[in-house]
Amino acid sequence: MTELAIPGQAGAPAAESDLMVRAEQVHKSFGSIEVLKGIDLEVRPGEVACLLGPSGSGKSTFLRCINHLEKINAGRIWVDGELIGYRERGGKLHEMREKEVAAQRRSIGMVFQRFNLFPHKTALENVTEAPLLVRKEKRAEVRDRAAALLERVGLGDRLHSYPSQLSGGQQQRVAIARALAMQPKLMLFDEPTSALDPELVGEVLDVMKDLARDGMTMIVVTHEIGFAREVGDSLVFMDGGVVVERGNPREVIADPKHERTKAFLAKVL
Ligand SMILES: Nc1ncnc2c1ncn2[C@@H]1O[C@H](COP(=O)(O)OP(=O)(O)OP(=O)(O)O)[C@@H](O)[C@H]1O
Ligand SMILES: [Mg+2]
Repeated sequence: MTELAIPGQAGAPAAESDLMVRAEQVHKSFGSIEVLKGIDLEVRPGEVACLLGPSGSGKSTFLRCINHLEKINAGRIWVDGELIGYRERGGKLHEMREKEVAAQRRSIGMVFQRFNLFPHKTALENVTEAPLLVRKEKRAEVRDRAAALLERVGLGDRLHSYPSQLSGGQQQRVAIARALAMQPKLMLFDEPTSALDPELVGEVLDVMKDLARDGMTMIVVTHEIGFAREVGDSLVFMDGGVVVERGNPREVIADPKHERTKAFLAKVL
């Protein structure tokens, strides 16, 4: 078990229980390079938070810290009131065992730029895999739920197709259904449409919009400004490992306050 000395006060503030995600002064280094330099973030239940920023600003790293795919060097992250990756004892944080981390990760769905489906499994099998193996649920129930999820993402007629028989947009929708099959309370999206041909982007964004309407809490790293403006409840602009600007997406996009935000938006708009 590793020990981490964390500066600051022990114990979470009271408001944290009303939040789905609370990150406080998250620091992350790779070797001597500090990639996250104290990130704060608060996401309410049902909120769609869009994360924007130039390449290398630390967006993916921060998302990966939220489900403890990366260990953090300082700070804290709570999801639904639970401290992620660490246990606090005597004012010190002790890293959890892999099994405990895995249990926390189960309630957090993640969708990446590349779909990472199992190539030798059908769409349906990709979606049923984790609930069957990890949660040991009943096969018939899992199958019905998976079929309903694939139906929901518009693939009700492709249950038995293999990934190689599906378009990129269809594969990404399977990946979303697969994440939803674990009934997560939070979904993390890391540029889910940036590997897709332009004509396939819309169908994936539509599925994400539908999820948002349904009340899913989502953190979405995206360069799709239209999505951020239309669906986002909040926008966080990161650069160089810090949050430069945040606010209502429509306001930030129409009237960015910070030079770095202006320069970035000028490039992507
Ligand atoms: N495992 C790693 N080891 C060393 N450096 C890393 C590692 N992962 C990321 N980095 C570095 O951390 C910085 C932030 O990377 P990150 O992938 O979080 O950026 P990003 O904002 O997601 O960029 P992009 O828009 O290109 O996806 C980069 O300089 C990157 O090279
Ligand atoms: Mg990235």
